[in-house]
Amino acid sequence: MSWVDDLEHRARVGLPAYVAGYVAAAAGGGECLAEELAGWEALRFRPRVLTDTGDVDLTTTVLGTPVRTPVLVAPMAQQVAAHPDGEAATGRAAAAAGSLLGVSTNTAVPFADVAATGAPWWYQVYVMADRGLTRLLVERAAAAGARALVLTLDTTALATDAPGGQGVEPTDWPPGPARARATALTSEDLADRDQGATAMARDLDADVVGWLAEVSGLPVLVKGVLRGDDAVRCLDAGAAGVVVSTHGGRRLGSSVTALRALPEVVAALDGRAEVLVDSGIRSGAHVAAALALGARAAFVGRPAWWGLAADGEAGVRSVLDRLTAELALVLRQVGAPSVRALAPDLLDPATLPA
Ligand code: FNR
Repeated sequence: MSWVDDLEHRARVGLPAYVAGYVAAAAGGGECLAEELAGWEALRFRPRVLTDTGDVDLTTTVLGTPVRTPVLVAPMAQQVAAHPDGEAATGRAAAAAGSLLGVSTNTAVPFADVAATGAPWWYQVYVMADRGLTRLLVERAAAAGARALVLTLDTTALATDAPGGQGVEPTDWPPGPARARATALTSEDLADRDQGATAMARDLDADVVGWLAEVSGLPVLVKGVLRGDDAVRCLDAGAAGVVVSTHGGRRLGSSVTALRALPEVVAALDGRAEVLVDSGIRSGAHVAAALALGARAAFVGRPAWWGLAADGEAGVRSVLDRLTAELALVLRQVGAPSVRALAPDLLDPATLPA
């Protein structure tokens, strides 16, 4: 059992079953998530010798923001169900680890509390049916100090939309303190809006990227990209980069994996923009492989959520520090003195998904 499995187990013990089920949930029969996990695990390195790895340099920048580790915290909803401080605890941990966090549209923690942690943060956007509400949110996030927007585009359907689908969205949860307020919107913001104003928009076109950049004044990363041609369309529409992601296998069971899509997206963008990745990353070796394949940084999702549930701020900190320490060790072992030295030739191509 890996330490992440152990952490999941410890987190689950203290959580109501419906919360634990929501976090672990995967789309379809779980085949995409299973393939993500197995895919990263199956990769093998081709270590180099005679390189000076006395000091390994893990520092990098993401969209111009310096970080001490390329292990970042993915935007995740319902963090107050893991710990009452939610993203404030996650932010303090990210600040201490020299990392960065994504903050979900569905956060229950005020932006000011996230900003007070001192961690750099990006605001994740689900565009709402009422664009005016989305505009309010991104303007507030920008004013509070968000350094970029992460526009998630893979959520055109939820598991609850499936015939008979149930139990994996917080809307099904019993009301109570564990269920986060849907958004950082106030009841005044919501007065006089149409029914369904906060529902996710399903009619988006490429113009939304430029619109978000314009109203926020921030760079926009598009999350949920799994094709090279889409990555190019996003850039043409004004995106500063993309996050290759299957949402942790939570959106389409029969989807291609993020690991499989990453080389295609990196090749299509050809160094013109930053590419990040997530889904199924559970060790420093997985992070090293992601960077070797061309990712600038990797997000971790569930492990950070489980750390928060098990041990609060210290739990998230421990996840980030542990993954970062593992990454440093792998760099030494493969003969890479810095994260910039990670390149595709360090991986055995026979172990990449076909
Ligand atoms: C998520 N994810 C997510 N993504 C997003 O863009 N907005 C969101 O609100 C959420 N909420 C959310 C909640 C929970 C409980 C999980 C587990 C995930 C997806 C997240 O950002 C990321 O893509 C995946 O979690 C990465 O996969 P792993 O690391 O969890 O396997």
